[in-house]
Amino acid sequence: MSFHIRSFEAYQAAWKKSQDSPDAFWRDIADSFDWMEPFSSVKTGDFNADHVRWFEGGKVNITANALDRHLPNRAQETAIIWEPNDPQESTRTLTYGELHAQTCQFGNALKSLGIKKGDRVVLYMPMTPELTIAVLACARIGAVHSVVFAGFSAQALSDRIEDAQAKVVITADEGRRGAKTIPLKATVDAATAHSNCVKSVVVQKITGAACHMESEKSVYWHDLVAGHSTVCPPEPMDSEDLLFILYTSGSTGKPKGVVHVHGGYMVYAGYSFSNVFQYQPGDVYWCTADVGWITGHSYIIYGPLLNGATSLMFEGIPTYPDAGRFWEICAKHQVNQFYTAPTAIRSLMASGTEPVLRHDLSSLKVLGTVGEPINEEAWQWYHDTVGKKRCPIVDTWWQTETGGIMISGLGSLSPMKPAHAGYPLPGIHPVLLDPSGQEITENNAEGLLCIAQPWPSMIRTTYGDHERCRNTYFRPFPGHYFTGDGAKRDEQGLYRIIGRVDDVINVSGHRFGTAEIESAINETSGAIESAVVSYPHDIKGQGIHAFVILDATATDMPAIQLQEAVRNAVIRGIGKIACPDRIQFVTALPKTRSGKIMRRILRKVAEGEHESFGDISTLLDPGCVDLLVRGAKQLQTR
Ligand code: WTA
Repeated sequence: MSFHIRSFEAYQAAWKKSQDSPDAFWRDIADSFDWMEPFSSVKTGDFNADHVRWFEGGKVNITANALDRHLPNRAQETAIIWEPNDPQESTRTLTYGELHAQTCQFGNALKSLGIKKGDRVVLYMPMTPELTIAVLACARIGAVHSVVFAGFSAQALSDRIEDAQAKVVITADEGRRGAKTIPLKATVDAATAHSNCVKSVVVQKITGAACHMESEKSVYWHDLVAGHSTVCPPEPMDSEDLLFILYTSGSTGKPKGVVHVHGGYMVYAGYSFSNVFQYQPGDVYWCTADVGWITGHSYIIYGPLLNGATSLMFEGIPTYPDAGRFWEICAKHQVNQFYTAPTAIRSLMASGTEPVLRHDLSSLKVLGTVGEPINEEAWQWYHDTVGKKRCPIVDTWWQTETGGIMISGLGSLSPMKPAHAGYPLPGIHPVLLDPSGQEITENNAEGLLCIAQPWPSMIRTTYGDHERCRNTYFRPFPGHYFTGDGAKRDEQGLYRIIGRVDDVINVSGHRFGTAEIESAINETSGAIESAVVSYPHDIKGQGIHAFVILDATATDMPAIQLQEAVRNAVIRGIGKIACPDRIQFVTALPKTRSGKIMRRILRKVAEGEHESFGDISTLLDPGCVDLLVRGAKQLQTR
């Protein structure tokens, strides 16, 4: 692709051009894609306007660029390599020609269910090629996909289905993760039992487990596609037409639907993939994320396919059948670029070096990390043991809302420093602000990370609630996009992300709002009130510490039973992934006289800081702090 950067000097020149003449910079990149009709303007609006729009007037379909454009020369090349959960089962591969045909066929099948341009389709699926096919088929016919991670509970799934008003849900009978099977269709049944919007449920057969197919709504994938043509022209979409909604947690309220669109998202996903991973034709690239998160959208499916790359997709987990699985797959498929999360690195590091050394990792060229800050110890292990000190690490900072990687090294081109994301991509202008909104211009500084200029794959809206989008991201610091993260900039201008400055907790690279977890906990029978905070966790990055007040009906029960009840409430409300690591029953929370919980104090208690609480004189009952500390000590020593 013409936007591929090949040296650090070229990177510097590109960054400068993106600042001096942003429209010309983005126009050149966008021109590398196929447009059905050319766009008439590069960008309209700015962060202070109600909307920023990119490539207006253009007609495009992201799948025409991810699939059709490769057919003349590369139809026989591998688009997807799929590695099943069970290593005894065989690998599946799909060429670009096959992926195109199956996407078209499934697109026609969706049309036969009445799905039209603009309709929403929810995908609640395991990591199989059908998930990629379903995503692409939606985009192909102009439907809006909303993938929900298949670990979320029926309640969480139902919230998302209803918010998006989805007409179709696509799922599987069961998912397979390590030695476990996960009932997916049963969860969809529970989530849609009272839904008025869902008209059909498509079920991929994976394990063959019996599932409830009686209702006329349900149809098996293989029955549905049978007989449909493999010809399905891409729907011409306006650049700003919706491509997908992906729900993510914020500091307040329920998870919000982040909206991305065909034009700008396509341009940035394709451009960032090519440069960050320094992908070369013929390379095998593997991102271990789940398609249920933004990383899977941008860097398993769209980014690689837009570049005609070979993208590996893995159904299972890093520790099944043993802690060598990732490395076995790298060796088996001669993986060149490997992209994972710090949590996975830390948990594999705990299994020692032997499972890594057992496999030939000489094909690796670039290692990537994403989702949470990587500590220096994990960074060194990744660099030395996995990369044999030969492979650069790209520590990629970005968010669901940014659509693509914002701050990161570009393969081996950029300077690299442990635990630092580094420099921004060309086109991206990060700044540090102080809490009053003043820009901190010097290096060697710390502040609130904001972005000073629009970029093509920026969030367009939060589905159904544009005010919420404006309030969360664009109003806190007028003229800027506010990330919610704190960051440092060193002497050389390299960025290091410190973590969230709002009430978002990052557990194993997954985002949860404290309010979201608290409202799930409050559904426990006998729970009156709760507050959750994070504390540093060796493997997960952050652990969840919950403080819960119970009423008199519950306090007679054994603590273990009560903790189980709280855990179950979170599993029901959100899913296992959001379960608190520690549950502490308390009689009072530290509140100010105006009734506000002082989370600062709870965080210190959870972090094991038991002495210096600073000024607690504004508390309604300063004595409650001692009790909190005593309770926490008991939990932590257990
Ligand atoms: C955090 C994931 C440090 C950050 C792509 C951000 C990171 C949130 C990094 C977004 C990184 C992501 N270093 N922290 N390289 N990458 N984060 O929306 O706090 O699931 O705001 O997107 O993850 O999480 P999200």
